[in-house]
Amino acid sequence: MTTKKTGMARGLTSYGDAGFSMFLRKAFIKAMGYSDDALERPIVGVVNTYSGYNACHRTVPDLIEAVKRGVMLAGALPVDFPTVSLHESFAYPTSMFLRNLMAMDTEEIIRAQPMDAVVMIGGCDKTVPAQLMAAASAGVPAIQLVTGPMLTGSHRGERVGACTDCRRFWARYRADEIDATEIAEVNDRLAPSAGTCSVMGTASTMALAVEALGMMLPGGAAIPAVLSERLRHAEATGAAAVRLARDGITPDRIMTERAFENALRVLLATGGSTNGIIHLTAMAGRLGIRIDLEGFDRMGRETPVLVDLKPSGRHYMEDLHDAGGLAAILRELRPLLHLDCPTVAGSTLGEAIDAAPGPWPQDVVRTLENPIHPEGGMAFLRGTLAPGGAIVKQSAASARLMRHTGRAVVFAGAADLAARIDDPDLDVTADDILVLQNIGPKGAPGMPEAGYLPIPRKLARQGVTDMVRISDGRMSGTASGTIVLHVTPESASGGPLALVRTGDRIRLDVPARRIDLLVDEAELAARTPVPVPHAPPARGYRKLYLDSVLQADEGCDFDFLRPAPTRTIPPRS
Ligand code: FES
Ligand code: MG
Repeated sequence: MTTKKTGMARGLTSYGDAGFSMFLRKAFIKAMGYSDDALERPIVGVVNTYSGYNACHRTVPDLIEAVKRGVMLAGALPVDFPTVSLHESFAYPTSMFLRNLMAMDTEEIIRAQPMDAVVMIGGCDKTVPAQLMAAASAGVPAIQLVTGPMLTGSHRGERVGACTDCRRFWARYRADEIDATEIAEVNDRLAPSAGTCSVMGTASTMALAVEALGMMLPGGAAIPAVLSERLRHAEATGAAAVRLARDGITPDRIMTERAFENALRVLLATGGSTNGIIHLTAMAGRLGIRIDLEGFDRMGRETPVLVDLKPSGRHYMEDLHDAGGLAAILRELRPLLHLDCPTVAGSTLGEAIDAAPGPWPQDVVRTLENPIHPEGGMAFLRGTLAPGGAIVKQSAASARLMRHTGRAVVFAGAADLAARIDDPDLDVTADDILVLQNIGPKGAPGMPEAGYLPIPRKLARQGVTDMVRISDGRMSGTASGTIVLHVTPESASGGPLALVRTGDRIRLDVPARRIDLLVDEAELAARTPVPVPHAPPARGYRKLYLDSVLQADEGCDFDFLRPAPTRTIPPRS
């Protein structure tokens, strides 16, 4: 009987007698049909996030088969196992509420079972950050595989994709531009294949950032879900996991401060989802790395948006793949990157860029000299309305609203918004600023993507398409508009946002990175915060969440899951 602390001998449950414990373990696992030859080999765990609720992960069974082939060709034993799976549309109250549950589940189950490395198959928005938070904490060699983006569909000759076009068509339906028959037709066309949203939403953003981070094999972020190329990438991922196991390359060796800076560059250059900064903050936090948001903003001022994808631009993920994928972006960003960072491929990021095919003529990824937007996709704001900060996705905002002072029209929570936003008697004009309270990490709870407040119906019918909108919530990466998000501290934690009243004046000044409530301090001191809408008494996971969740600037992780930060990025220059 083997005594090496790899393969089946890892993390042996003690029955007092180590030999007997191993004897018992092997007796049970042999009922899966494994031979002694198989069981003497290194083990690569494969995280199975297939779920009948999760079409973004519909191809996971095929990917598992391909990963297993790669693992076996490299001489190790693959063993797949299930974890929590999250789909954006089937994760009540929000997938952000459940991200930390998935991270805890994944971490503990990786640790509980014997494996020398793990292939994590994720894709839908919160799954990839959850898996990398888990891997960082579990400390087992790990590699990310994503399911990949879905293909685009066609509606009456017009190309459509989830879910920027979902919002666009719904807005047209709300404005009575299209009828009930047509909106039903659109519904059949928006998600035409398995895979993740086809625009620069959170899934695409995280896939690209994680490839830049070095935790995915080069080229893996953009391959569409249903292409055979993705299966070959999965096979290669399995083989790479065996190398990581043999060399003992744990995630902290890859996910370094400099690697996170590379990921932040890509987040900015893609005009990526605002959720991306929360997730990267949470992932880095697991390794004691703090992301300084003012520093992130400084990086943004020198990192233009290069990728012409919806919602900021025109194209879809399959076009980015055809244009060369992440390598086409990295090639342009080269002077801003740390090229010596190691990746799970065994080579450095710089070597991966050199080895990638291309470049060839394309119009999806622009050059540094001819960007889509001269500054990065996101700007970090501070001011009397957000002492802990706020984010605005400037690449998806209206230029005319980047400096705007207006009268606040306040909604006390998601239910209040739903009840009044379409009221024909709502006192609101296009110059007003819509404010939504109580949708922060603790407020809703779960920080819903309700920060994309709809334009009041009566204004939409007049042709108004954008207004300044402010909340402590999030916005889907697939949405656009002049939208200030992640206001910290949140309303439900007593932030100044809880004191705003309809009629107050608010000044947004993105060039100056300010968001200010123009009400004097004496008046504010006399006000009581708007109450948090009544929530049922907390028990179980909800109680754990409410007791432990951190604010957006700390990645909305649980306070007890991360070590005290020991390093800050980016360094002050
Ligand atoms: Fe899964 Fe958009 S719903 S990636
Ligand atoms: Mg999303």
